[in-house]
Amino acid sequence: MRVVNVSLGDRSYPIHIGPGLLATLGRECARLKLGTRCAVITDTNVGKRCAKTALRSLTRAGFAPVLITVPAGETAKSLKNVQTCYDRLAAHRLERKSFIVALGGGVVGDLAGFVAATYLRGIDFVQVPTTLLAQVDSSVGGKVGVNLKAGKNLVGAFYQPRLVLADLTTLATLPEREFRAGLAEVIKYGIIYDAKLFARLERDLPRRRRRQTQPLAEVVARCCAIKAEVVGQDETESGLRAILNFGHTIGHAIENISGYGKYLHGEAISIGQVAAAELSAAQSGLPQRDVARIENLFRAAGLPVTMKLNPAARKKIFAAMRLDKKVSGGEIKFVLARKIGRVVWGQRVAEAAVNAALDKVSR
Ligand code: NAD
Ligand code: GLY
Repeated sequence: MRVVNVSLGDRSYPIHIGPGLLATLGRECARLKLGTRCAVITDTNVGKRCAKTALRSLTRAGFAPVLITVPAGETAKSLKNVQTCYDRLAAHRLERKSFIVALGGGVVGDLAGFVAATYLRGIDFVQVPTTLLAQVDSSVGGKVGVNLKAGKNLVGAFYQPRLVLADLTTLATLPEREFRAGLAEVIKYGIIYDAKLFARLERDLPRRRRRQTQPLAEVVARCCAIKAEVVGQDETESGLRAILNFGHTIGHAIENISGYGKYLHGEAISIGQVAAAELSAAQSGLPQRDVARIENLFRAAGLPVTMKLNPAARKKIFAAMRLDKKVSGGEIKFVLARKIGRVVWGQRVAEAAVNAALDKVSR
């Protein structure tokens, strides 16, 4: 097992990465001296596969868990489901010392984390991410929240978990498309922070796509270490943390205009990152050969790098970008790359330049 620490003073926590870790859930929660009553929040897909092991592990360690299952998919990240969870927690009489286990992908992690942040003004929670995307990104760093009709993640909090258990065995049942979507965040870490990771992925992405435990453990641990370093320096995104949003301004807008369903988050940010690379070539000196390497790696991961963009869709993309949380003082700011492994954040870009970058990803 690999352990990566997120250093945030008295809110620090470890990320455990390895095969078969779900069975250690109860023991690890006992080690943290969490209260007896708890809730495991999961979705229908993950519940079928993982809830039994999680509940057994908790019960054996002396905990009294209740299982709350929400529908699978992005639309589950809603205030309606937050309310459903609150009602179940209250019915099971969870108290201040009780805790929540988020068992699932980023949707469950964001939803359950938000419920934990707000129920009784905040109770402990443990992340058990079961998608690649959640293991390398969403379960770490404490961003929790739900969507509004007006946009993604518009209601939320910064609320750190007590522990992250990334069980690589759970990834075996992840649909291929979801696995590829997770690779979009993995590649992002290479672009924003680690040119060596990027080059390694260029060399052996096929091996990693076969989900062999050893190479997967290595890559998940490296991504978590990068995220931990960034979050450790800037927990609430007043500066550096913004680099984690590379390609996300356009990516979130793509998700929004296509109604959160057509493109998975990872697919949308794949197109968004290629657009951001094109924008970087025009604005921040990213060499054209780096743009080509970025586009090729997303293609090699089996991710989309272009989309149909008629004038009406473009208009909607700009409207959605203006609503994004990253807008400040009415200005859309971008993370731009100078070279692979090095980015700058908070960059003002004229609408015409964004349009030109969108031309490059439009087919
Ligand atoms: P997801 O949670 O919807 O999971 C993808 C699908 O895979 C779902 O259908 C789920 O039921 C299924 N699934 C999950 N684990 C499985 C397994 N082991 N076997 C079989 N099926 C499984 O999607 P995701 O890609 O994990 O997360 C996307 C969400 O994460 C988005 O809402 C995004 O906004 C959020 N996110 C949050 C952060 C953050 O910092 N909080 C960062 C990145 C993304
Ligand atoms: N995924 C972006 C962040 O955690 O800040």
